Amino acid sequence: MILKQYYLGCLAHASYLIADEAGGLAAVVDPQRDVDEYVQDARRLGCRIGHVFLTHFHADFIAGHLELRDREGARIHLGASAAAEYEFTPLADGESLALGQVRLEVLETPGHSPESISILVHDGESPVHRPHAVLTGDTLFIGDVGRPDLRAAMGWSADQLAGMLYDSLHSKLMCLPDETLVYPAHGAGSLCGKNLSTDTVSSIGVQRRYNYALQPMSRDEFIRLVTAELPETPPYFSYDAVLNTKERPTLDQALEQGLRPLGLSEALALIEAGAQVLDCRDPADFAGAHISGSVNVGLGGSYATWAGTVLDRERPVVIVADPGREGEAAIRLGRIGFDNVAGFVAGGMQAIEDRLDLLARIERITAVTLAEQLAGATPPLLLDVRAESEWHEARIEGSLNIPLGQLLGRLDELPREQTVVVHCATGYRSSIAASLLRREGLAGVADLVGGINAWQASTGNGDVASRRPVRERPPEADKDPALVVWGEEPLNAETPLDVLCASEITPNTLFFVRNHGPIPEIDPAEYRLSVHGLVAEPLTLTLDDLSRQFERVSLDAVLSCAGNRRSELAAISPIPGQAPWGPGATGNASWGGVRLRDVLQAAGIETGAAHVAFTGLDRCTEEGEEIPFGGSIPLAKALAPEVLLADLMNGRPLPPAHGFPLRVVAPGYIGARSVKWLATITVQSQPSTNYFQARTYRLYPSDVRSETTPEHGFSLGETPVNSAICRPAEGAAVAGPRVLARGYAFTGGTREIERVEVSLDRGASFRTAKLLGGGQAGAWRLWEVELDLGPGAHELAVRAWDSAASTQPENAEGIWNLKGYLNNSWHRVRFTVAGGRPVPS
Ligand code: MTE
Repeated sequence: MILKQYYLGCLAHASYLIADEAGGLAAVVDPQRDVDEYVQDARRLGCRIGHVFLTHFHADFIAGHLELRDREGARIHLGASAAAEYEFTPLADGESLALGQVRLEVLETPGHSPESISILVHDGESPVHRPHAVLTGDTLFIGDVGRPDLRAAMGWSADQLAGMLYDSLHSKLMCLPDETLVYPAHGAGSLCGKNLSTDTVSSIGVQRRYNYALQPMSRDEFIRLVTAELPETPPYFSYDAVLNTKERPTLDQALEQGLRPLGLSEALALIEAGAQVLDCRDPADFAGAHISGSVNVGLGGSYATWAGTVLDRERPVVIVADPGREGEAAIRLGRIGFDNVAGFVAGGMQAIEDRLDLLARIERITAVTLAEQLAGATPPLLLDVRAESEWHEARIEGSLNIPLGQLLGRLDELPREQTVVVHCATGYRSSIAASLLRREGLAGVADLVGGINAWQASTGNGDVASRRPVRERPPEADKDPALVVWGEEPLNAETPLDVLCASEITPNTLFFVRNHGPIPEIDPAEYRLSVHGLVAEPLTLTLDDLSRQFERVSLDAVLSCAGNRRSELAAISPIPGQAPWGPGATGNASWGGVRLRDVLQAAGIETGAAHVAFTGLDRCTEEGEEIPFGGSIPLAKALAPEVLLADLMNGRPLPPAHGFPLRVVAPGYIGARSVKWLATITVQSQPSTNYFQARTYRLYPSDVRSETTPEHGFSLGETPVNSAICRPAEGAAVAGPRVLARGYAFTGGTREIERVEVSLDRGASFRTAKLLGGGQAGAWRLWEVELDLGPGAHELAVRAWDSAASTQPENAEGIWNLKGYLNNSWHRVRFTVAGGRPVPS
């Protein structure tokens, strides 16, 4: 049996292909409207898509049931109480459909909507009462249940539906065996619930234990709970729920018009006649120049949801996109049923560049400038367009909160004479808001670059999505308050970039911390290290034994977290549940201790040994279980002279956060293999099966959206070549014309940094930076370059080359991965040079 999940991050939507390869027949459940992927996959499997199911009439997207019917001849199946314009097979409780050996059985589970069903998947071999999985649609999510209020406009009350949901959960889904896998139709970020997990698959047993809505409670308590504090719904939700019941054009038919290139005069005529212009370029490009009156909703964020919220569905849309991205812009609108696209401006903004009469721009200001303006004699009005809950959590003092979804209805609350500075969390929503305000005739509008995150992270760690340090001061006495703290318990904190480039060695108090569990308290007198497995003589060693029996050595080495620079990947497509590390989850220290090789040789390595595994004394909670942290490195690496069992960091005993009293330091490998609070060393034939090696710290292909199949990812080991700019900081305003740029570069294995290059023209040309320091393998190289810059905005990019002639990829898009590991794309900062003399051309 094939059961494949497709996860569409933009709409947090999961759909499924189920097939019996032997029988050559497949079904798709809750398809997205662009169905190519299902069709191609089914062909590859040698199957025909004979059936399509909707678990209910979705409100947040247009499903692809008509597309699969028309393209593949698939029969449409709905719950027995559904009513639709098109022909379908109604399925009542207990009815089933066979796909060869695979059987799909329907459970009617009304609640989220009256016609909702769930689908049991039986795979031939399993007993009748033990289904392999249940596809729960929007009835049961991972960590939540479907909201019951979306049908309020259609004659149902939220309380009525919440009561039905309670009955469906308790009389149907919770009666399934604990091991039944749960595959929902949505994940984190969806507005169809309020607390969805970032996981995209779970089991009935885990949900029974951990889902807040499934804990013992009366029907009335449940109704109160699930109808409280529901997120706002975009206006297109009720439209989509109705459209999903109707006969309508297919996406291909809609795109025939939407993908039409428009000459400038044709586009202008459409605009004159009432079309709205949707500019889906990045906020920075939009602010630089756009067609006056256009609305900016960038493709880089929740494009469909926001376009659906701020555009008028009745008016035609003219798209302005970066050339080559027009199709994506139209398809993503089509997914939510916005078929009213009249075409796109052929050639994008380049076609309009010299028509200055048509162009407008929006001022973008940095946090520094905003602070100056707020302290000045005529401060601007600060408009925060984030959700109310975000505003309550943290805000810039004196700001007015109007959530973006409400902005058009509350324009009269804004002054016409005062300048308005708009901000959100990162700069995505505020650019939409600024464009709406300009279109509505407010003259003085500016957009805060990087949003409240840039305001808060005065450390300048990057212009990135959803980065908000949880607090400023780490709890540990020996950690510096300047660290940017992403989590307090377990402690996760990164080093400010100006600190990183200030000296070759990162000070202990400012060294980044990456913990998966609480820091264990270890009595050094009681401490024992155990060495066992495929060894001739297992050893139990005290700290004293280690120091006396083995030669002491020290070396400089980089430690870098696999998640370093994840925030730039998360800005491309969200990486929920993972800390949004900037480039400060890395550091260079001088480590002292003994060689792992010497200890292994003392124990005597036996034949069959191929890997050396470590476990720590900390206890981490993963998937509801307490487990030790662990991981392994290949035996060949373990026998290399640079791998240490370290008890000193920069000449001092290891601080508690860094593994006191003993840790592994495996230079050239991801930080996760440098196990802290080391308890055991096991020599073995296979890589570690510890969760942190077998399940996480794996690199998935860019299209994998769920972690259900760890074998699709490979286990991380050596790090690739990487570099970052630490100075100037992102968004900084610096004095010109001479600007000193500085940063770090390091590489993996035993390779060395050979060259670092910077570019001021997005890679058209490069200058070689000066490498500082000694260049010991395993340690990083700081670099610097003096730039001569005219006043205005600049973008600086950096890339490094190593001794294997490896370099960094230009863009992060191609290396995006599910967990956000090993981002080594060119690092870029945007900054402004104030004053100074212009640079001669
Ligand atoms: N060792 C244990 N026992 N527990 C952990 O959580 N985190 C690992 C590694 N060793 C970890 C561990 C990860 S992911 C990294 S990046 C490094 O430690 C971070 O080391 P640092 O906190 O000393 O900077």
